[in-house]
Amino acid sequence: MAGITDWPFRLICQRMGADELYSEMISAMGLLQAPKSSTAYAFLLSHHPEERHLFAQLFGRDPEMCARAAEMISRLEYYDGIDLNFGCPAQKVVSSGSGSALLKDLPLARKIIRAVRNVMGKRLSVKMRIGWDRSSINAVDFARLCEDEGVWQLCVHGRTREQQYAGKADWDVIAQVKRAVRIPVIANGDVFTPADALAVIDATGADGIALGRGALGNPWLFRMIRASLSGEAAAKPGPEEKLATALHHLQMMVGLKGEDTGMVEMRKHFGWYLKGMKGAAETRVRINSCGSVQELTMILQRFFSEAEH
Ligand SMILES: Cc1cc2nc3c(=O)[nH]c(=O)nc-3n(C[C@H](O)[C@H](O)[C@H](O)COP(=O)(O)O)c2cc1C
Repeated sequence: MAGITDWPFRLICQRMGADELYSEMISAMGLLQAPKSSTAYAFLLSHHPEERHLFAQLFGRDPEMCARAAEMISRLEYYDGIDLNFGCPAQKVVSSGSGSALLKDLPLARKIIRAVRNVMGKRLSVKMRIGWDRSSINAVDFARLCEDEGVWQLCVHGRTREQQYAGKADWDVIAQVKRAVRIPVIANGDVFTPADALAVIDATGADGIALGRGALGNPWLFRMIRASLSGEAAAKPGPEEKLATALHHLQMMVGLKGEDTGMVEMRKHFGWYLKGMKGAAETRVRINSCGSVQELTMILQRFFSEAEH
């Protein structure tokens, strides 16, 4: 997830039970044109040695550029593969012909997949939406195309581009995709609780689940879902565990991006860690105006020590 799945967050998710990790979206053209000194791309490609099953997510519209970027990334030994994005609905991405815009041009999508497949020996996965809009749902055709082109795994977000993030994910279309191909299909969309996870597996027969918004401020969801899938009680985190995780996240982010940028980037995460708890709104205001990691740590310690169990 753009702006979210840098290595500090990915590492936390992995330690909570995530099997596969995906980088933030990386523009093929941006990567090829970035100067060697670009810190933005250095951050995007940075990793932690403990990470396993790590994929870099690429987007672009030009097959040759995508292939060159994929070749460059797949030389980095810590990536297990590349994930191509055919799902991003953002206007900026779509108007450049990338992301979910490619669902309207399957021949071009095929060329991109083939070009990337031809230059790398590692795994190639695809992230897709179910179509551009309700009247043009083509997830099954696209999934078959991906399978034909040697894609290793598909992750299907059950919304159209037109829906953005509104409405409900259509798990039924994910089930149709699962029935249509033999490669693994990962279901994505609207899993916020262990009960949702069991329901999406039941409804789709998918081989796995990808968590998006449900994991924001709640990486314990991975652990809780794992427990539910094996019939065990899902252990919710208490305030002490939440505080320890939030502080560790802060420490890793400051280590990666420095105190000023790290603190600013953590604001959204703290908003999510505090969400739904008593006094969260006032504490968020204090967090957003605080000037040092030390002060921030004290604000968080106080908030979580006063939180109700
Ligand atoms: C802030 C934000 C950033 C996202 N960035 C990406 C991204 O870079 N690549 C991607 O494939 N999906 C991205 N997504 C979409 C999610 O991966 C996921 O497909 C979508 O949120 C639906 O799943 P959910 O209901 O579990 O959130 C993003 C979503 C959000 C909310």
